[in-house]
Amino acid sequence: MTDVFGPSHQDAGPSIGQARHEQVVFCADDRSGLRAIIAIYNTALGPGLGGTRFYPYEDEQTALADVLNLSRAMAYKNALAGLDLGGGKAVIIGDPAKDKSEALLRAYGRFIQSLGGRYFTACDVGTYSEDMDIIARETPYVTGRTPAHGGAGDSSILTAYGVFQGMRASAEHVYGSPTLRGRRVGVEGVGKVGYRLVDHLLADGAEVVICDVSAEAVERVRKVHPEVEVVADAAAMKRADIDVYAPCALGGALDDAAVAGLHAKIVCGGANNQLAHPGVEKQLAERGILYAPDYVVNSGGVIQVADEIEGFNMERARAKATQIFDTTLKIFTIAEEEGVPPAAAADRLAERRMSEVGRLRGIWLGR
Ligand SMILES: NC(=O)c1ccc[n+]([C@@H]2O[C@H](COP(=O)([O-])OP(=O)(O)OC[C@H]3O[C@@H](n4cnc5c(N)ncnc54)[C@H](O)[C@@H]3O)[C@@H](O)[C@H]2O)c1
Repeated sequence: MTDVFGPSHQDAGPSIGQARHEQVVFCADDRSGLRAIIAIYNTALGPGLGGTRFYPYEDEQTALADVLNLSRAMAYKNALAGLDLGGGKAVIIGDPAKDKSEALLRAYGRFIQSLGGRYFTACDVGTYSEDMDIIARETPYVTGRTPAHGGAGDSSILTAYGVFQGMRASAEHVYGSPTLRGRRVGVEGVGKVGYRLVDHLLADGAEVVICDVSAEAVERVRKVHPEVEVVADAAAMKRADIDVYAPCALGGALDDAAVAGLHAKIVCGGANNQLAHPGVEKQLAERGILYAPDYVVNSGGVIQVADEIEGFNMERARAKATQIFDTTLKIFTIAEEEGVPPAAAADRLAERRMSEVGRLRGIWLGR
């Protein structure tokens, strides 16, 4: 097994080589207990931007595999979001509840600084805006800071808004009209993103069905919107008589069995990695269910935090997130024209932008 932080670290190669990442940096600081990996997939469009995941990985190999996958995914997400940013991501190995400290976060900040702006960080699982404020005491290459520090704050605001735009585009494609009015939409998971999505849907005139493993989360919605219907759990949601299914909880919501029982004609939600395996998309297509690729419609969050790089302005960020509507429609059109599923069409569009815009760096600008 690779042991990059131990005495011998000669064997970190194969997975990095296969994934074709531009740069992977291992960072260790014994006194604070920091063990982190920063991965930059590419910088074709600009510096890599992606969050820092603080997670008690079983071992370094698992952490490495995760950061390689996540940084690659960010390159595609940022490209399709129309940002001048490449793909990057970082992981800190440890239990955030026990291991997070000022010294550890600042040590991590110094490693980000050492990359000279090739990588910008943000929040992810296990890290919060307050942590970004601490990291920012060592480096300016930080987004997702608190509003008190000029940051964008809670990124779920534009994540939910972007998912709603993607859903409007899906409705346009399937029903010929960009509205959810009169449609039944099932929102699975009403945490930060799902809760806000319900607001958008009700304002648009949709009927909303929700579920959540947390009774508190369900109650929070019901208190403000008593008209919302509640189903028992995620399994019931997938069998429910709904037009649109919006996974907004954890990844892997759609597996073979779930697709077979789905009534919805559209899948469009905020959760990352909704498909349990790549074959699921084909099954959705065979059943005539339109899938709005997750990383396209949930990019409002990264759009929100990326705006901090210019000095945060919510209206400018919202205007950019509104473009998720057009991007989603464009992906459906390419999918039809090129006879591929929407996720493959999204990948092609992202690769085109990385290649066409990225190549301009080759134009000599003089001295
Ligand atoms: N917050 C963002 O800006 C953002 C951006 C992009 C993607 N996402 C993704 O969107 C999803 C939701 O993010 P969030 O910030 O709202 O997280 P969150 O933790 O606030 O909410 C998730 C909700 O899902 C519920 N849940 C968990 N398992 C469930 C299950 N089996 N059935 C039903 N409900 C379940 C939880 O109780 C919680 O209320 C995640 O997959 C996240 O990676 C979030």
